Amino acid sequence: MKYWIETYGCQMNKAESEALELELNHNSWEKAENPDAADLAIINTCSVRETAEERIWGRLGFYKRVKKNNPSITLIITGCMAERLGSKLLNESSPVDKVFGTFTKNNIIDFLLEKSDFNTNKHLYEFNKVHTTEGKFKSFIPIMNGCNNFCSYCIVPYVRGREISRNPDEIFTEIEKLENMGIKEITLLGQNVNSYYYKNSETGESLDFPDLLKRISEKVKNIEWIRFLTSHPKDLSDKLIDVMAKSNNICRHIHLPLQSGSDAILIKMNRKYNSDFYNNLVQKIKDNIPDISITTDIIVGFPGESKEEYNMTYNIMNNIKFNEAFTYYYNPREGTEAFNFDDNIPKEEKVKRLSEIIQLQKKITVSKKKEKIGNTIKVLVEGFSKNNSSELIGRTESNEMIVFYGKHDIIGLYNMVKILSLKGNTFIGEIVS
Ligand code: SAM
Ligand code: SF4
Ligand code: F3S
Repeated sequence: MKYWIETYGCQMNKAESEALELELNHNSWEKAENPDAADLAIINTCSVRETAEERIWGRLGFYKRVKKNNPSITLIITGCMAERLGSKLLNESSPVDKVFGTFTKNNIIDFLLEKSDFNTNKHLYEFNKVHTTEGKFKSFIPIMNGCNNFCSYCIVPYVRGREISRNPDEIFTEIEKLENMGIKEITLLGQNVNSYYYKNSETGESLDFPDLLKRISEKVKNIEWIRFLTSHPKDLSDKLIDVMAKSNNICRHIHLPLQSGSDAILIKMNRKYNSDFYNNLVQKIKDNIPDISITTDIIVGFPGESKEEYNMTYNIMNNIKFNEAFTYYYNPREGTEAFNFDDNIPKEEKVKRLSEIIQLQKKITVSKKKEKIGNTIKVLVEGFSKNNSSELIGRTESNEMIVFYGKHDIIGLYNMVKILSLKGNTFIGEIVS
């Protein structure tokens, strides 16, 4: 039996799809070359913005056509949109056979085994325990699920539920397994990793995020890069900065979503910090970890955002000079608090504001990257270029892409590479050792 999985949305979804893939492989399923050749297709969905859901509706149209040629294919929808819309995805003309929301996704394998004629006993490869497929050298590790913050625009707490931190022993075991699989880089995942907190009811011992990160940093042997995503500014502690500053295997990179430069908008967004707090936090991080790379998320066109308030976002981006920014215009999401606010910024104005900050960030990103030309840096070699197989592709500690000539036997290894130039957004380099 062959399967096909499509994944949309954030790294959390990617990690969960990989766990599912591993689970299917261990139950004798094989990956199909394309959806037409599959007996089973699973779409892992996202709900964060309208565009994310529109793409999925488009894919359902595509699967209607696939089903015409291949009526026996089973189509499963899972993830955040499945959680949000549930049985609405199952109307008469829909190609969908079964919907599993974020709270029932662990039942997918049971459903498939019941459906199929397998005589074998269910082989559960500790689903949700190892979140990467074999043969890779980078892995995401969810350390918590859900979110308690209820930013007024955001659907995530509704589709993912309240925060639950994973038992650290489970996390350590997963990391040990990953090291044995040859993994070289891990990214700890949570909607707000800084609020990770686990108390062992038997020993009474408790662990917060800096404690967890420190333990992982001390335990790993072959993993030289530890990343984490995402940090809510209100919870990023001095203790975390200290752990990062003293470690040599935690990447010098923090993703710190700002969302807006206007204090009035930040209040309406329910972000629980103001621009002074954010500026001071960035300064403190830079003072303690001078080579840090800071990236962010920005929303423009939030309900009621005046031209002046938008300018504050533009100006703070211009002052802080983030290494990279993921920028969006506001999308109303039904069920969130902001859905009841008057979404009074016309679409053209939202698009205009967005394109201005995209242009600004492009200039900043390029000029910050140009400063690095001539430096020799550590790179994890990830693969070879599709256009030119003697060209290798790697990532820097700040997660920037770099291309250089080299042999395929160094794929999956760290190498020192000298940055020679910048082409578009990609560094061009040469191996020095
Ligand atoms: N938990 C992370 C945080 O607190 O920043 C990120 C969560 S969300 C998956 C990723 C980004 O999507 C957010 O930081 C925000 O910028 C954006 N986003 C969320 N809801 C949105 C909405 N309704 N409209 C536009 N952008 C949105
Ligand atoms: Fe959404 Fe805010 Fe939670 Fe991030 S912290 S997932 S933006 S509610
Ligand atoms: Fe999307 Fe769900 Fe992630 S809404 S961004 S896939 S948590």
